[in-house]
Amino acid sequence: MSKSEIRFHPTVAALYDPVQIYFERFQAPAHRTYLADGLEGSVLEIGVGTGAMVPYYDSESDPAVDVYGVEPDPGMWRRAQATVAEHDVTMTVISGRGETLPFADETFDYVIESGLFCSVPSIDAVLEEIARVLKPDGEFRFFDHVRSEGLVGRSQDALTPLWRQIGGNCHLDRTILKTLEESEFVRVESAERRQVGHWPIRTFVRGIATPADIGTDTETN
Ligand SMILES: C[S@@+](CC[C@H](N)C(=O)[O-])C[C@H]1O[C@@H](n2cnc3c(N)ncnc32)[C@H](O)[C@@H]1O
Repeated sequence: MSKSEIRFHPTVAALYDPVQIYFERFQAPAHRTYLADGLEGSVLEIGVGTGAMVPYYDSESDPAVDVYGVEPDPGMWRRAQATVAEHDVTMTVISGRGETLPFADETFDYVIESGLFCSVPSIDAVLEEIARVLKPDGEFRFFDHVRSEGLVGRSQDALTPLWRQIGGNCHLDRTILKTLEESEFVRVESAERRQVGHWPIRTFVRGIATPADIGTDTETN
């Protein structure tokens, strides 16, 4: 399989919600509320999955929000459509992927991801697209699990090759915040590490980034 290919297995989509029940009920809500806090205007979520963020976009709490989503896995996409239909939210979920977003430059006020960067072939390829579709004063909000420190981190390194096979290319060992901070496409404005989950997914980062001002540097000599 080449690095840019994504392989989807229907079992991952079918088991996703049952496996996530405890996380969604007790651990994720504060962070999903953070991602959706005060949204206004146009929003794009990349990697919608089964639609875990959808209840947080509910139009009763965010009346001015117009939400788009992209999701490449047909099984996830179908479940996301069903979740949208159950909620009072204006959301269009498109079959697509973060590396090739079917939107014009500077379309969105906000781009959101949760749990996407652990599984994409190249985080930077998605960040380039995020920076392109965000308005210059737009915000990119992220929430993802990352490699922990110490013994837990070493166990994640060892487990990742197997975990990727059963978990839709999910990497336990990614240092996602470092990748974001080193990217030429976004500038991290704020970020925090949180111990949220249980082994083997333990440490998360959440934060806000803005599109980097690339290509505007002027030569001074
Ligand atoms: C771990 S799930 C997270 C789903 C959801 N955001 C959540 O918080 O529950 C990751 C999702 O990203 C999707 N995905 C994987 N590669 C992608 C890509 N290159 N572009 C967009 N979505 C992708 C997967 O199909 C899956 O639905």
